[in-house]
Amino acid sequence: MKKLAIIPGDGIGPEVIAEGLRVLDWFRQRRGIEFELWQLDLGAERYLRDGTTFPDEVRDEIWSSCAGVLLGALGDARVPDFEHARQILFGMRMGFDLYANVRPIRALTDALVPLRGRSARDVDFVVFRENTEGIYAGVGGQLRRGSPDEIAINEDINTRKGVERIIRAAFAYARRHGRTRVLMSDKSNAMRHAHELWQRVFALVRLDYPEIEASHLYIDALCLELVRDPSQFQVIVTNNLFGDIVTDLGAALSGGLGLAASVSSNPDYPQRVKLFEPVHGSAPKLVGLATANPLATLLSVCLLFEELGFASAALELETAIKGTLEAHETTPDLGGTSSTSQVTDAVLARLRQGSSA
Ligand SMILES: NC(=O)c1ccc[n+]([C@@H]2O[C@H](COP(=O)([O-])OP(=O)(O)OC[C@H]3O[C@@H](n4cnc5c(N)ncnc54)[C@H](O)[C@@H]3O)[C@@H](O)[C@H]2O)c1
Repeated sequence: MKKLAIIPGDGIGPEVIAEGLRVLDWFRQRRGIEFELWQLDLGAERYLRDGTTFPDEVRDEIWSSCAGVLLGALGDARVPDFEHARQILFGMRMGFDLYANVRPIRALTDALVPLRGRSARDVDFVVFRENTEGIYAGVGGQLRRGSPDEIAINEDINTRKGVERIIRAAFAYARRHGRTRVLMSDKSNAMRHAHELWQRVFALVRLDYPEIEASHLYIDALCLELVRDPSQFQVIVTNNLFGDIVTDLGAALSGGLGLAASVSSNPDYPQRVKLFEPVHGSAPKLVGLATANPLATLLSVCLLFEELGFASAALELETAIKGTLEAHETTPDLGGTSSTSQVTDAVLARLRQGSSA
């Protein structure tokens, strides 16, 4: 039986993960898709209680025994330097070498697309964000801190290996999924050393995928084009920082953070542990109000099913989510009046209807 580590985390994390677990339980009971669930008490509460962030033995056991991790969100104002969040998130991303952060940007209904004259058909692409290096690698420092002469530096780390494997992963995904276009985005006109490497590697890798149209846009132009005409994009590959930003823009094109899901994996080793998480954070202002949208988590469960070999369950769940959105049974972020658990109730009702049809 496949084992899943569950890390509800902080803020609304536990609220949305509870809904994800209800859905997993439905698939266990009705479809026989059984996972061994391993609940982990990690996050701000634990850190404030006893200083624990991401113990080595937990990391080692996830690595050796889990097929996936389902994570809610991390971030709590009581831990202002994000120490626990950094240790846990980076501990998994870097520690398990989960270099491909894949974020599907797909509008499930027309009403979710905020652009005039555009429909769901126009918003359907996938972003491959490099997840282990770039400016998030943590290389840098501060000099003369607090003085008027202070200097603060973060280095942008781009390795040949790191750049090549994420670009290859994007092309391989396009080939596997019948997508015909891959776009690479950088800022090589300004970041002439680091991003010129992306240019060179992209030019080489594309030769191995002659059937796929390869193109390039600077990140600023990409942001503009995504709003002007998102239908031109199928697969986008970019670095850690730009991927972080452009996927929030993508979320806005497809219904907002309440619907954005992600998976981080190492495509070179498909059997290794994968990290599934909603893109949103811990949304402290929503905690306890029962208004957090659980659908980003349920869509992360869809990705989990897809990646762990249960494609028909993924489709079944996505269809139920789509039906729920079409019926406007949504939380307030999408204009509805349903509570967090009522949205899941609506999804589960559709799953039951679908299975009795
Ligand atoms: N991967 C992660 O765990 C992650 C990602 C982003 C931010 N964070 C952390 O989360 C904390 C809050 O950050 P933030 O406010 O910038 O980002 P956030 O994603 O928590 O919230 C941004 C906005 O989106 C809304 N929102 C987010 N998720 C929602 C949901 N499920 N349903 C309805 N509305 C939702 C919130 O109300 C808020 O207005 C910070 O500590 C930050 O560091 C963590």
